[in-house]
Amino acid sequence: MRRAAITAVGAYLPEKRLTNADLERLVDTSDEWIIERTGIRERRILGRGKGSAYMAIKAAQQALEKRRMPADEIDLVIVATVTPEHTFPATANIVSHAIGARKAWGFDLEAACSSFIYALSIAADSIAAGRVERALVIGSDKMSSIIDYRDRATCVIFGDGAGAVLLEPTDEPVGVMDYMHQADGSGCAYLHMKAGGSLLPPSVRTVRERLHYVYQEGRQVFKQAVVQMAAVSEALMQKHNLTAADIAYFVPHQANRRIIEAAAQRLGFPMDKVMLNIDRYGNTTSATLPLCLYDYEGQLRKGDNLILATFGGGFTWGALWLRWAY
Ligand code: UT7
Repeated sequence: MRRAAITAVGAYLPEKRLTNADLERLVDTSDEWIIERTGIRERRILGRGKGSAYMAIKAAQQALEKRRMPADEIDLVIVATVTPEHTFPATANIVSHAIGARKAWGFDLEAACSSFIYALSIAADSIAAGRVERALVIGSDKMSSIIDYRDRATCVIFGDGAGAVLLEPTDEPVGVMDYMHQADGSGCAYLHMKAGGSLLPPSVRTVRERLHYVYQEGRQVFKQAVVQMAAVSEALMQKHNLTAADIAYFVPHQANRRIIEAAAQRLGFPMDKVMLNIDRYGNTTSATLPLCLYDYEGQLRKGDNLILATFGGGFTWGALWLRWAY
């Protein structure tokens, strides 16, 4: 059976660090509160003059270099992002041009924090169907471009970063094995950006009223995130008769350490089987999952079963069973 396997992972993190001490100077918060309530110590910030394409290009180039794969052998580029370089054209087109992926078609996929897992699923299906040979799936978000650094409820959580995976076909029983995704548009009320879309285009009023930033009712999102990430992961595992003992690592979206711990506990995963890097990068939205794979790459062995899980705005959520291929 033909499947899509991840054969290389790349990442890019901006050098500038925004620490909890820095945030204490911006809003009424404390290092203790942020660590206790979120598990975050610092995040990376890209700064002015560069957008999500810059980070996506760096991450994609690193993945290609690790596999010594020329960019013109790539057929499909999907950029998962909520902070595209422009409203149009797609960031994927800018990235493909910059890296020299001349034969590739591509597009951006936006499903809030589930963007990367959805993009990985679509790319894997395209390869499994024989439509595409090699694909790059990149999660890149410059969250600092849509965060209000006067809003303590959101500015402590998010950071910038990018991760990229190279996908190639395989006949071995490794790669993307299966996935289950869901969405519920009633969640829009609790996590969204009020202006900048076609409903409320940018105007003096929208800027003055600070409507171009992430709006989140954290407690509502928190509850749903724990319940749904655990439920969809459990359903996927049950479908394939997988127990926690069969899984090398649980790879959850990095939104809040407490959400991760609660979901892991429901699923029976001890914390040493849970990929974690939220302390160093915060919530990088589309980049959290590939950044986890990048950070833990050295500890993974061929055949390891991983369960990736996300929950985000929309609401969108899902789980993906990945068997590591190298
Ligand atoms: O990735 C996309 C999906 N997003 C998520 O999964 C995020 C889900 N939500 C969360 O991670 C958490 O809800 C937050 C981290 C956003 C907030 O943590 P919380 O424990 O749910 O706090 P809360 O919103 O219930 O607020 C508790 C208190 C409030 O004060 P009062 O009303 O009890 O006096 C807040 O005003 O904490 C206050 N608070 C803060 N205090 C210090 C909120 N933010 C801060 C802050 N520093 N940064």
